[in-house]
This record gives sequence, structure tokens and C-alpha cells, in this order.
Amino acid sequence: MKTKKRKGEHVKICAKKDVSYAKNWFDEIHFVHDALTDLNYDDIDCSAIFINHHIKHPFMITGMTGGYKEAERINKSIAEICEKYEIAFGLGSQRAMLEDKNLKNTYYVRDVAKNIPIVGNIGAAQLFEYDSEKINDMMKDVEADYLAIHLNTLQELVQPEGDRNFLGLRKTIESLCKEIEFPVIIKETGAGISMNAIKRMRKWKSYVKGFDVSGSGGTSWSKVEELRGGNSGPFNEWGNPTPICIAEVASTGAFTIASGGIRNGLDAAKAFALGADICGMARPFIVAYYKKHLEQEMKNFIEYLKRAMMLTNSQNIHELLQADIIIHGDLADRMFARGIDVRMYANKG
Ligand SMILES: Cc1cc2nc3c(=O)[nH]c(=O)nc-3n(C[C@H](O)[C@H](O)[C@H](O)COP(=O)(O)O)c2cc1C
Repeated sequence: MKTKKRKGEHVKICAKKDVSYAKNWFDEIHFVHDALTDLNYDDIDCSAIFINHHIKHPFMITGMTGGYKEAERINKSIAEICEKYEIAFGLGSQRAMLEDKNLKNTYYVRDVAKNIPIVGNIGAAQLFEYDSEKINDMMKDVEADYLAIHLNTLQELVQPEGDRNFLGLRKTIESLCKEIEFPVIIKETGAGISMNAIKRMRKWKSYVKGFDVSGSGGTSWSKVEELRGGNSGPFNEWGNPTPICIAEVASTGAFTIASGGIRNGLDAAKAFALGADICGMARPFIVAYYKKHLEQEMKNFIEYLKRAMMLTNSQNIHELLQADIIIHGDLADRMFARGIDVRMYANKG
């Protein structure tokens, strides 16, 4: 009951209030324009590989909701658009359906999304409570292809009713990964995955097939929880900037989903130039759902990504990775501090 109520409140707050980080780090990245275009816009190929699937556009709507009536409509509406444009779709935390099996329908979208990758979702902290058999059943109930395990310590700490004991989490995730029948994606929820965390997850390589960095710059869960009555203190801007997470995770060769503050197709193009394999978006699509312009939002994402590809003379996503970008301001300083040479991104040739 508590889980259902919380999910509804999260969606409403994210749809109606400004809960973004003060700074979106993609504003400190600019492409080097290529004047000598030798492409036909209509031939630009945005297709991508999503782990074991081929998709027409290199996007994913990352997990947001499920567990109550309105969530069923939201999931179905967004999944339908994802199917139409052939992009991956993520379910919100399935905790509510583990607590009450009757809520399965609020997550089930396979009837409207027959071909695209569907990503199930559970919080890492819930793995203390539910064993691999329960998680396998949960995945089969919604016919999902991948399981995203989300890490959300910041959110739990600022949430009035949040979990505070994560002792033993690493071991618990590892045993689940070994027993689960589905490829696993580890995701954050807005505070970002760093190289430090990746290093400690490296030995799970044979089970964990990708990382969704979900860095800072987009939805601030500290701000969301503050609006629900939590005590966020000075943590509203806490987190690793998404572009740095992308650079760090991609440099390990891991499958990298870039998310956290991707507001449009141009931000997505910058993420690809940093090494992302797929770009993920959450809040822009919940806002679009309530404004009733979901399909237009998706079309804009594709259009702006293709414009950026045309302006950098990139025929496909692989060529976009070769496009030069200039990183400046605080972002450049922070990258330098992390030992990343920003000049490398501006002079790839
Ligand atoms: C309304 C809403 C609900 C969310 N619920 C979940 C969730 O249940 N599980 C999860 O892994 N992430 C959840 N997230 C986090 C997103 O998947 C994403 O990682 C984060 O919001 C950053 O992306 P954005 O800046 O595009 O919103 C939620 C995000 C939003 C906006």
C-alpha cells in the first residue's frame, strides 16, 4: 500500500514540479561543426544494438512506474510509442507487484510492445527480501527481456520512510545475478555510477550485461523527496555529472546506457560522442505524457539527434562517436580532476 502511494506521488511531483538539478552538464559540451556535409538526411541511420536486440533508434525510456491504476495507462501509452519507434522500454520498480501479485497488470505492456526490449526493474535493497525464484517469476509475469537492478542510496536517505541498512548488498546482488535467468543491467537513479563503483562490479562481468549511469543533471531525487516531506538538507545537487559517468563507464568497455538529464536529441548526440551505446530518458516522457504530446516528444528526440548527426557529418551512431566535442567550464575542471583529458574529445581525428 505504502509502495503504491509513493509511486503515485513520485509521478505527480515529477510531472508537475521542477525537480531538475540546478545545472545540466550537457550545456558545457559543444560539437565542432563540420561544414563539409556529404550526407542525405533521409539516409542517416540511427539504429543501435541494445545488448541482444537490434533497435531502430538508440533510445530507452528508463524505469518509472507501475503498481497503481494510472501507472497502467502511463506504461501502456509510453510502451506503445516505444514499439512504434523501435526503442527499449523500462518498467518502474516492480516491488509493488512482489507485495501484491494482483498488480501485475499495471506493469504488463507486452501486448502493446511485442518486439522491443522490455526491461524489468527492482531496487537492490529489495533483494534482501526476495530470492531469485521470486525475481525470476516477477520477470516472467511481465515477459521482460532484461532485469535492471537500481541503486538509490541518496533517495533512500532523504526519503522519510527510506531504507538505511545496505550492509551485505554487494554479496546479495552477486548471488542474485548468478541465479537469475535474465541478463542484468545495473542502474543508478540520478546520482550516477562512477569508475570507483564500476571497478567493484567488474567481476560480475559474465552476468551484468550493461550499466545505466543515471548521473546528475536531470531529475534530482533529493528534490523530489523534499517535496514529499523528506529532509533533503544540503543534498539536492549531490551526484556525479552524467557526462563524466558516461566517459568513465564507457572507458571500461562496458555496455553504457547514458541517462540523467538527457533533455533532447542534441544532449543525446553529445552522450554518443562521449561513448554511450544507448541514451535513456525518464522525466521528459512523464511530462510529455501529462501534456499529451508523447509522440511529438519522441519525434523531436529523433529529429534533433539526426540534425546533430548531419551537422557533424555522421552517417550512423558509430561515426557520431568520432565527432569532436569541446568540453568547458566546471565540467572540464571536474573531468580534469578525475584524470580525464578533455582535449582528447576535441581532437579525435
Ligand atoms: C517519475 C519517475 C519515477 C522513477 N521511478 C524509478 C523506478 O521505479 N526505478 C528506477 O530504477 N528508476 C526510477 N526513476 C529514475 C529514472 O529511471 C532515471 O534513472 C532518472 O530519473 C534520471 O533520468 P531523467 O533525468 O531523464 O529523469 C524514476 C524517474 C522518474 C522521473
